[in-house]
Parts: sequence; C-alpha cells; structure tokens
Amino acid sequence: MAETKRWWKESVVYQIYPRSFNDSNGDGIGDIPGITEKLDYLKTLGIDVIWLSPVYKSPNDDNGYDISDYKDIMDEFGTMADWETMLAEAHKRGLKVIMDLVVNHSSDEHAWFLESRQAKDNPYRDYYIWRPGKEDGSEPNNWESAFSGSAWEYDEKTGEYYLHLFSKKQPDLNWENPTVRSEVHDMMKWWLDKGVDGFRMDVINFISKEPGLPDAPNPHGKKYVPGGDYFMNGPRIHEFLHEMYNEVLRHYDVMTVGEMPGVDEKEAIKYTDEAREELNMVFQFEHVDLDSGPEGKWDIRPLKLEALRENLVKWQKALEHNGWNSLYWNNHDQPRVVSRFGNDRDYHYQSATMLATLLHMMKGTPYIYQGEEFGMTNVAFTDIADYNDIETLNMYHEKRAEGVPHDELMAKIHIKGRDNARTPVQWDDSRHAGFTSGEPWLKVNPNYPEVNAEAALNDPKSIFYYYQKLIELRHSNETVVYGSFDLLIEDDPEVFAYKRELGDEMLLVYCNFYNGEPDVTLPKEVRGRERELFLANREDAPTDLDTFTLRPYEAVVYRIR
Ligand code: NOJ
Repeated sequence: MAETKRWWKESVVYQIYPRSFNDSNGDGIGDIPGITEKLDYLKTLGIDVIWLSPVYKSPNDDNGYDISDYKDIMDEFGTMADWETMLAEAHKRGLKVIMDLVVNHSSDEHAWFLESRQAKDNPYRDYYIWRPGKEDGSEPNNWESAFSGSAWEYDEKTGEYYLHLFSKKQPDLNWENPTVRSEVHDMMKWWLDKGVDGFRMDVINFISKEPGLPDAPNPHGKKYVPGGDYFMNGPRIHEFLHEMYNEVLRHYDVMTVGEMPGVDEKEAIKYTDEAREELNMVFQFEHVDLDSGPEGKWDIRPLKLEALRENLVKWQKALEHNGWNSLYWNNHDQPRVVSRFGNDRDYHYQSATMLATLLHMMKGTPYIYQGEEFGMTNVAFTDIADYNDIETLNMYHEKRAEGVPHDELMAKIHIKGRDNARTPVQWDDSRHAGFTSGEPWLKVNPNYPEVNAEAALNDPKSIFYYYQKLIELRHSNETVVYGSFDLLIEDDPEVFAYKRELGDEMLLVYCNFYNGEPDVTLPKEVRGRERELFLANREDAPTDLDTFTLRPYEAVVYRIR
C-alpha cells in the first residue's frame, strides 16, 4: 500500500530544553535569545523541526512543566518579542518550531487554580479535580504521585483534596469539564495563529480519568501505589483527542506528537491512524523501560539486546501501515544514551554512532535531544545538593528517610536521574563550557573540555558529522523514510540487523550492539549481488563478502539496487 507522504514523516526533530541550551545574558539560565544565536548551528546539523520544551510563565517547580500562564513567556527566558524573533529567524532558515503543550495539569499558581481553590462554588472550581477525603479524613484514593508521595493534596481553605499526578504544584485539569477543553483549544489556536508548527503534548494520555477515581490494587499494603490503570489511556481519551483535532488541528498544517507513558502498540495505532484524526505520532516508553524492574525506574536492570530488538520490531510492525512511529533514545527525562546503552568510556564515538544508526535507519520520525549530536554523556555529581530535578530530589529524600544509604541512592541517580540530560549544553572548552558567562543553574558536566560542540565541529570524523550524514540520507533517500521494515537476523544476542525496502531498493542495516566481534551473513536473496556502502561508522567495511565480522559497536548500512 502506498504511504501517504507528509512533511513530518520526512523530518528530523531536535529537542531544546531551553534552561540548559544557551544563556545569552549571563544569568546562568538558558534563554530564548540564546536559542536564536544557535539557529545556524542547528541548520548546519540539518534538522527540520525544533521542539521547544516549555517556555511559558512558570514558578519552575518542575522546570516549566508547571505553567502559570499559557500565553506568556517565562521571565528568565526573555520576552514574547524575543520568542517572536526566534520563530521568525527559525522560519527564515526553513526550520519549523513546535511547542510543548502541557495541559494534563497547570501550575497551582495559574489564575484558574487560584480561583478554584477559593470556594466550592467558585466558577473555576470544576476546572480541577477536587474530592472530599475518605471517612477517616485520608486521601480520596491511594494513588501515588509520579514524584513520590500521595497524588492528592489537602487544601485547608475548602477542606477538600485536589488531584496532582505530578508535584503538588501541578494540579490536574478536569477534562470532563467542556469549558476546560475549549479553553485549551482556544489557547492552542492562539499559538498556531502566531505561526507555531505543531505541538508535543505532555502526558496527553493521562487527561481522561476513570470515573469514580477508584483505589488501585495494593497487594503489598503500601501507603500509595501507582494508579496508572485508572488514568492512562482512559475511557474518553480518544474522544477528547478527536475533538481537539476537529476544533483545532484540522485547520492547520502542523505536526503533533503525544507523550504517552503506558501506551502499548495496540492503543498507539488508534492514536496515530490518520483515518481516526487524533495525533500524528506518540512517544511510547516501552523501549526505555527495559532497563527497569517491576519497582519502576529506580529498580535498575541491565538491558539485553534481545529485549530491545523484540520491542522495537514490535512497534515497527504494529504501526507499519496506518500509524507512524516516533524514534528516540533521549529527551530531558531520560539518561544520555551513549552512557546508558553504549560505552562512553572506551567506545564513545563507536557506540554513539552505532546507536544513532540503529535508531535513524528505522521507519518513523527521529528525535535528537540537545547534545546527543556530539555525544554528551551522563554526569555523576557526588553531592545531592548539586542536583535540581524534583523527581530525583523527592526520591532521594524519601528513601534516605527510610534509611537507604546515600551511596546506594547516588549510584541510581548517576544511572537514571533526569539531570543527566539537563546539564548545560557543552558548546566549547571555555569556562562553563561556553554555556554562560555567569554561574550555571546546574553544574556543567566536567568532561566538557573533550566533549563539546566546537571540538566536534572541528573534527570531520566526529559524532556531529555522523548525525549530519544520517539526516542528509533521510532527506535524500525515500527508502529511509517510506521503506518497509523487516528484521534480518532473529536471534543474535549481539547484532541488530534489519532491512528497509522500497521499490527496487533495499537497505541492509547491521549494528553490533556490544564490544564483541560477531560474524554475520547476508540474507540469501542478496548473496553474490553487488552492494554499495550507504553508511558506516568504521573504515573499510567489506562490500564483497557474504559473511563478515562486525567490529566492536560497528554499524554498517549497505544499499542494494
Ligand atoms: C513529562 C515531562 O516530560 C516531564 O519532564 C514532566 O515532569 C512531566 N511530564 C510532568 O509535566
């Protein structure tokens, strides 16, 4: 079946976390003029779309994911005029800009919430989710917040609790209320009319909660338990998204990606099937949860290639006809991939480029997170005071209070903490990596003298130029975008190999996921046929052997016509 061509299928998206991107005024905090300064850099890389993490007014309890005014810019980031300049300059360069839409919750400092908490009969009361406590006065249910503790906060003034799936400064909006939905639609149109090119939608599959908000099963008698089954992909979610499409999105040529923890491929096909008119693609989390155990993200397990392959293939196949995949390793919530699934010490270039190849050659829209393009790594501060992330700090303090030793917790934070992704972008080898002339809000990773954008730009063999090449190939080759996907080798514990096919062209992708030296054999159909080297992260990949050895973290892509 012929694929519908869309610009967002042919694009590569680059995520900017503004606080950590580039500081133009020396206050230690990245800002919008700082982004404008780096547009030429992004153009050199070759990306098509910038996704801006939230830049709206916010008290920054969760670094901008707690919005107090959806139509204004955070003071630390600049002004609306700065934002307009940035957008115009991006558009001038042919770069699109999508905004982060955070509407599962607002800040508790949003005018709606300030009203809502005033009185039970306040006209804004129903904008949020208020409930009386249980008979004994305890929380309305046993749900745990994503950032530890109860998902409910008691409010003295009216003697009721409000729901907050994230921090208590992020009250959940009540999407059952049609006025809330139309407020969100109006706000979206307001930004679209300013010229934005789409939205990344924060935890958008959380907006429809199970009526009655029941207690979650609690077999181990814990105080609070994850209540995801009662709010992830809830009963009215597809209705709400389809309504949003009809009211807003249908009228603009934009792209949408819904962030969806807990989404599986069956649900994802419903969200992304074009005929259903909901979203273009979703961010799923299964592949980045494979190194977590049953207790969640801090219950850390080693990743096995078999599990990763099985998962990625499942997603490739499930969405192959009517849906569309997003492809990502990194974002502001995930540790750095070269440290996580690669080897940032002994095979920095090799493993970073292998992982990039594995991801970018699959079918879907790839996302690059700032600094990934030159191999930024995880960080390991030893003092908890050097961390900023609310999730990390809440977990640390809760577990310390339970008696878990400091070192044990720091070891987890070094592997999984969100600040791994949030240390300032390392632009050069000057003080604070050229991120700021002042004192950065979060310390710079001490490896900046070696790992930085300037060094990468000066080295034709750097990770940066490999990403540039990957992007170029996507732009110049239709098979990369629209070709079918099939696994080549089912069960090799070290090698991920797949093919992409369109018309008479075939791309064969071989990725050695570890530092061994496995042999691979080409599929029967192409043996003895001539093939050209499409892309490789090592010199001298053979083009004439049917069986060959992959070197540590080698990635090679052959083209057969
Ligand atoms: C997902 C965002 O990516 C994360 O950074 C944030 O903390 C939560 N949603 C809450 O908005």
